[in-house]
Amino acid sequence: MSGMWVIGYGSLIFKPPPLYQYRVTGTLKGYIRRFWQSSSDHRDTPESPGRVVTLMSLKDLKSHSRFHNDLCTYELNPKLGESNVATDSVADLPASALANDIHDVQHKIDTLQEDDLKVWGVAYYVAPEHVDEMKAYLDVREQDGYTLHKVKFHVHSIPEDAKRIMREIPRDEAGDLFIESFIYIGTIDNESFVGPESVEDTAAIIKSSHGPSGPNFEYLNELTKAVRALDPDCRSRDFYLEDLVALATP
Ligand code: SIN
Repeated sequence: MSGMWVIGYGSLIFKPPPLYQYRVTGTLKGYIRRFWQSSSDHRDTPESPGRVVTLMSLKDLKSHSRFHNDLCTYELNPKLGESNVATDSVADLPASALANDIHDVQHKIDTLQEDDLKVWGVAYYVAPEHVDEMKAYLDVREQDGYTLHKVKFHVHSIPEDAKRIMREIPRDEAGDLFIESFIYIGTIDNESFVGPESVEDTAAIIKSSHGPSGPNFEYLNELTKAVRALDPDCRSRDFYLEDLVALATP
């Protein structure tokens, strides 16, 4: 039996699973991360479900126009990253104003490539002798609409102790190291998917939700801090998460 890789883009970043051997940081291409998965087991209760993250694929984003406004506010917003917007909440700006800055929104969306959308996260290597136990652990932890998928993870930084194992990892056309890795996603057709939802609405729900694993805000705050720390050059900063934290801070 060979070892396995599992990707974390949500709680798995700031609350690592047990039994992993190495952790590398990097990106998933062709996805966006949103708090659009309703959850009634960890940070909330069935009577008052909170929010956890899931991923939307480029294919789903292209084929469902209901997601386009949100794409314009964040991933397609050329103003993001400018210092004034980075410190203010993007949610304070009307989405129509942001969309107007984009010459031809539909054309931009039609021509979006996987390389244009990146989600920063981590990948954990699990040694062969722990694979079964890890799968069982994750299947319990990642319930409530998440299903198991396999995607490419582009590796950006490798700790010294993981260098040996990385020699076995292939490179893509651009010469980047990539791992074929397991990932848990709440796809847009699962019962707990609630997107699209405005940052204001999501923030209000996160602010008031609390479950067996703790306050929903703690999940958001820990995730945002952990994502910031993934890249020393600040490329991992996620403006959607930053906005949510600003709006949901108690
Ligand atoms: C993940 O972290 O990769 C999945 C979503 C979550 O458990 O928060």
